[in-house]
Amino acid sequence: MHPAGQLGARSKMRVFVAGATGFIGRSTCRSLAEAGHEVIGLARDEAKAGALEKQGVRAIVGTLDDPGSFFAQAGRPEAIVHMAATWFDGPETIEQARRIGERILGWTRSLAQLAVESKSRILVFAGNNVTDSADAGPRRAVGYERISEPSQTYLEGAAGVPLTVLVPGWIYGAGSWFPETVREIRAGQTTHLVGDGDAHLGYVEVGDVGEAFRLAVERCAAGRSFNVVDEEPLTVRQFVEETARALGVAMPRGISREQALRERGQVFLEALTAPGDLDIGRTRRELGWRPRYRSVREGLPPVLRSLGG
Ligand SMILES: NC(=O)c1ccc[n+]([C@@H]2O[C@H](COP(=O)([O-])OP(=O)(O)OC[C@H]3O[C@@H](n4cnc5c(N)ncnc54)[C@H](OP(=O)(O)O)[C@@H]3O)[C@@H](O)[C@H]2O)c1
Repeated sequence: MHPAGQLGARSKMRVFVAGATGFIGRSTCRSLAEAGHEVIGLARDEAKAGALEKQGVRAIVGTLDDPGSFFAQAGRPEAIVHMAATWFDGPETIEQARRIGERILGWTRSLAQLAVESKSRILVFAGNNVTDSADAGPRRAVGYERISEPSQTYLEGAAGVPLTVLVPGWIYGAGSWFPETVREIRAGQTTHLVGDGDAHLGYVEVGDVGEAFRLAVERCAAGRSFNVVDEEPLTVRQFVEETARALGVAMPRGISREQALRERGQVFLEALTAPGDLDIGRTRRELGWRPRYRSVREGLPPVLRSLGG
């Protein structure tokens, strides 16, 4: 039986997902649809809409850059999941992160307005790892948090939107950064390993992330933030070692911090070297989330098989 089926009393919800066609979005839509919710996903073209429909998701073809393209059709959702994002083009500079953060903030304002007008019970936002800089002082955004921080700050302060923030670590699966990292590891050098690789970033399998978002929707834990990483924290070096072992190849070389900064940019360097917050106690207690793959050692073999490796 699907885990959601065991909850029994929980009622079906109408959920609007922005970013439904993305890496985390597809997994979240699958979890929500399998649990029996009415899922409405935003897709930017007909082909992506068709793929969503096959998952049991009602697709709206539109763009967050034009709220009029989806607002009326969203149908007063009881929950909104916001995992829409755009990415760097070339080196990941602080200036580019600022521009991306501003663009996503525009989308966030529209989704908050939809939440208010629909009297949604919850808006669930995909944040990025909240990391504390070792050099103390007031906490500052580092790494990819630079992109989500403007939206998160706005949502936390704005317009009476009931908000839950989910903060996944580095998500491995058939999408985003992981397939390229696998190719690099096979080729003998990976940019995922920067310097000593001694930071604990937190890793989690994408299906487990989808389940965490489903639970966040259902539990409506407004005013809360939840880390979503697995139960056995590995350093970056250990993660790369495990991946190489599972692939049956030698441990690859990494790149120096200087090379990472020069070729990939400051934000990339920060993202790969600043430790993440790995405490999932609240996620377990209040969302009832348990990762199916408690460690990378358990999750890598099936994920690599799904990549054809
Ligand atoms: N991947 C990870 O390991 C990871 C870890 C922690 C946090 N996160 C955060 O989680 C969020 C989602 O990550 P992801 O890996 O799922 O990203 P992704 O695969 O790039 O997905 C982004 C989604 O946003 C959509 N989108 C982009 N521009 C849009 C627009 N103008 N209008 C409507 N939709 C638009 C994309 O649509 P298209 O399909 O049409 O491009 C896609 O559905 C990001 O904020 C990311 O920083 C990711």
